[in-house]
Amino acid sequence: MRIGILGSGLMGAKLGTIWARAGHDVVFSYSRSDAKLKKLARDAKGKARAGTPREAAQDADAVLLAVHWSRVDDVLQQAGDLAGKVIVSCSLPMNADDTGLVIAHTSSGAEALAKKVPKARVVAAFGTVPSEVLFGVFAARRKTTKPSLVYCGDDARSKKTVAQLIRDVGFEPIDAGPLPVARYTEPFTLLIARLAYEGDGGPELAYRFVRF
Ligand SMILES: NC(=O)c1ccc[n+]([C@@H]2O[C@H](COP(=O)([O-])OP(=O)(O)OC[C@H]3O[C@@H](n4cnc5c(N)ncnc54)[C@H](OP(=O)(O)O)[C@@H]3O)[C@@H](O)[C@H]2O)c1
Repeated sequence: MRIGILGSGLMGAKLGTIWARAGHDVVFSYSRSDAKLKKLARDAKGKARAGTPREAAQDADAVLLAVHWSRVDDVLQQAGDLAGKVIVSCSLPMNADDTGLVIAHTSSGAEALAKKVPKARVVAAFGTVPSEVLFGVFAARRKTTKPSLVYCGDDARSKKTVAQLIRDVGFEPIDAGPLPVARYTEPFTLLIARLAYEGDGGPELAYRFVRF
């Protein structure tokens, strides 16, 4: 797949690197440092390059939106026309100091994003795990017991694309339902963050749902 990374910080840099190593064609974009984007592309050691948000979105089978909530409008504007594109969003609607959600209960960041780009196909995924765990999950991807990763969205075909990207990282994709389910997954992330960053075990934390 051709994947555009909009926001090459903790999440975007790691997911883009993993997807490049998994064989996808990746364009890293939207950093304040072009040198950083170029280095990411070099270090990814796959088919990766640095570009502008517009170049990242062009011809992309999927774009990853991985910016702070306060930067969403800016990056979308720079990306240009996203009609028909699959947007995988890990972006959470956090306030400026990252202490709370600015959208919750009656809507979600994912739904607010879908309203901003009504012709795109938004799938919420990857926002429920800390970036610190991603390389570890990728390294363990051939093990039979995999961590879960919930995702939600309204378009079946886009969700299939995203489920594959989730598998490529090493998670078992869990289809949680339509996009409004992000009203539950987004606050769930604050629990995961609490355990990852305030707990004793370190931030390399994933979760797994088990049925008996
Ligand atoms: N970090 C996590 O573990 C985690 C987990 C789940 C969900 N999330 C969500 O995922 C999204 C991305 O998080 P992240 O931790 O990857 O963020 P981040 O590390 O801050 O990365 C954001 C990216 O946006 C870029 N950017 C471009 N212009 C910017 C500007 N004017 N101000 C600030 N940043 C600018 C940053 O540039 P530079 O490269 O120059 O910094 C960086 O590449 C957020 O919505 C967050 O809530 C994060």
